[in-house]
Amino acid sequence: MRKHNGIRSWEITSESNFLKRRDFLRETGLIAGAGLAAAVLPGGLTAGVRDLETVAGPYSTDEKPNSWEEVTTYNNFYEFGTAKDDPQRNAHSLVTSPWTVKVSGECDKPGDYHYEDLVRPHVLEDRVYRHRCVEAWSMVVPWVGIPMPDLLKHFAPNSNAKYVRFKTLYDPKQMPGQRRSVLKWPYVEGLTIAEAMHPLTLMVVGVYGRTLPNQNGAPLRLIVPWKYGFKGIKSIVEIEFTRRRPRTSWELSAPREYGFYANVNPEVDHPRWSQARERRIGGGLFAAKQPTLMFNGYADEVGELYAGLDLRKNY
Ligand code: MTE
Repeated sequence: MRKHNGIRSWEITSESNFLKRRDFLRETGLIAGAGLAAAVLPGGLTAGVRDLETVAGPYSTDEKPNSWEEVTTYNNFYEFGTAKDDPQRNAHSLVTSPWTVKVSGECDKPGDYHYEDLVRPHVLEDRVYRHRCVEAWSMVVPWVGIPMPDLLKHFAPNSNAKYVRFKTLYDPKQMPGQRRSVLKWPYVEGLTIAEAMHPLTLMVVGVYGRTLPNQNGAPLRLIVPWKYGFKGIKSIVEIEFTRRRPRTSWELSAPREYGFYANVNPEVDHPRWSQARERRIGGGLFAAKQPTLMFNGYADEVGELYAGLDLRKNY
């Protein structure tokens, strides 16, 4: 794990990826062209993708990031279908600009905030995080984001704010997967205020130095690297500070399988499969699974948040 070093973390971890990215941007005209531009991405997906100004953030892993192709074509985003390649094929129907986030509940500065006004005041950080899905696969992803405590401070949460509830857009016209009741829509997730205010928690606006492709949760999504990937709610339109613990979509649909905490824990199995090991995407069909780390390898940073909590009961 690396702390600040003044250069983009993923430039070191994957120089060839960085060079590929510059080529990609040049080929698609994004380096020369200023501001928003429509780019045709591999796989034929058209998306408004923009290069971002970033600095290296803390906490990046030294592991090699997964490729752009892997990160943007192997996704979970049930609003666009339940197969891994559905989101990259279907998410073009999501309109991400203009985008407004409604902030409400136990805070002094509620309101409707435009995406640009939320993002502009912040220095965007590159952070290469391990990304562990509850389905026992993992990736390493060079996210770009705003540390969540910096973002949430704008809304001045008060002392009653014990939890933060996040909600995805609900619009079956743009999100055809919402016409099927595979989950309780809209997708809802939640964190304790201490988890939300932890410096590892990121409001992600990009990946690989560019704005998020729709299939990864454009224009902004949560990443909590010590929790299973389903906590990383995509395409957020509401942030609410609450006194009570919010009920999340996965908890509502299968409470025995998906708890509120969802901390990565190799010692607590999912009722239908083991969580002790994980398959790294891109490792090939015959690659050995690797051991899953407690809190996904972030135990030194976040273990104390759960001191005294029975992690078998509070899964
Ligand atoms: N957010 C919404 N709104 N809908 C979803 O289906 N899937 C979750 C999470 N966020 C999901 C979501 C799950 S199960 C995972 S593993 C991650 O997004 C996947 O993020 P990625 O596709 O960027 O890797």
